[in-house]
Amino acid sequence: MAKKIFSGVQPTGNLHLGNYLGAIKNFVELQNEKDNNCIYCVVDLHAITLKQDPKELKNNIRETAATFLASGLNPNKSILFNQSLVPAHSEGSWILSCIGRMGWLNRMTQFKEKAGKDKEKASVGLYIYPILMAADIMLYDATHVPVGDDQKQHLELCRDIAQKFNNDYNVEDFLVPPEPLIQKQFSRIMSLKDGSKKMSKSDVSDLSRINLKDSKDLIINKIKKAKTDPHPIPNIVEELENRPEAENLLGIYSSLKNQNINTTLKEFGGKNFSELKTNLSEQLIDKISPMAKEINKLLNDPAYLDKILLDGAEKANDIAENKVKEMKKIIGF
Ligand code: AMP
Ligand code: TRP
Repeated sequence: MAKKIFSGVQPTGNLHLGNYLGAIKNFVELQNEKDNNCIYCVVDLHAITLKQDPKELKNNIRETAATFLASGLNPNKSILFNQSLVPAHSEGSWILSCIGRMGWLNRMTQFKEKAGKDKEKASVGLYIYPILMAADIMLYDATHVPVGDDQKQHLELCRDIAQKFNNDYNVEDFLVPPEPLIQKQFSRIMSLKDGSKKMSKSDVSDLSRINLKDSKDLIINKIKKAKTDPHPIPNIVEELENRPEAENLLGIYSSLKNQNINTTLKEFGGKNFSELKTNLSEQLIDKISPMAKEINKLLNDPAYLDKILLDGAEKANDIAENKVKEMKKIIGF
């Protein structure tokens, strides 16, 4: 069945393998499924919930757009744009912040993680971040939202907001509660240095992640240094329990090859990690290096990237502006 897809990625630099395997790879597959309507957004309004350097932010917006294109997103098939060009996102977010409840936001684990110990010093924007995300999605009546596992809770909040708005104003089905699309396997790519931590752009150690712009040598080196354990690779999935680093490397390999973990275990069961690592590096270089080359090429033409985003924003604006107009009418403005 045709789906209306919306998703977003923050332009905060260092897009990595977790972003690619957890989210962007799925964006491309959905775009290429027949009849889907896909909208992919560089969520720059979300990025400023943490302090950003203006020059770097501008570069990162272009770099995220370049990554979309280099991964296979096609501006003739999908709408690609950046959020701050479409005013309806801010406007819709204000309206929905009057629907969302403090108690709901207080439960958000991402806020707790990002705010750290001193919550009093966190920006109000960081706190209401999931409301803006709900506006992003529901302005386009998106039915499905491909995201990594970490965004599940935000999607649940979005559904709660839809329900409350529709109830409060007695407008059944006006806001569409979206379904998350989370990959069943390998939805969470872990740090190469610590299998209990997510691969993240904010990790201080660059060795913890494969960045999509990493050179071949860097990829080989990072995989060589990736943490493992002293046992050989098992033959069955059950024996991966309590071996998070082994599970992660095997998961990354399987995901890159689009194969089930059992197939990978058949390939490597009983062998030692050096063999897996050699093959994993080859797979990564095969997939990541052409992308890195394309990203760097696109970044040499910022005017082209800006034009793609601006064209996309015009299309997005037509849809989102209209939805906000309807919202205002319902509210009584
Ligand atoms: P962000 O960079 O936080 O805007 O994330 C962009 C997308 O990548 C979101 O859908 C995240 O859920 C996903 N993502 C980020 N880190 C990981 C990871 N380590 N594993 C899987 N997905 C991830
Ligand atoms: N919060 C998402 C993340 O950190 C990014 C995002 C913003 C998003 N708006 C969205 C994802 C709408 C999906 C749909 O990854």
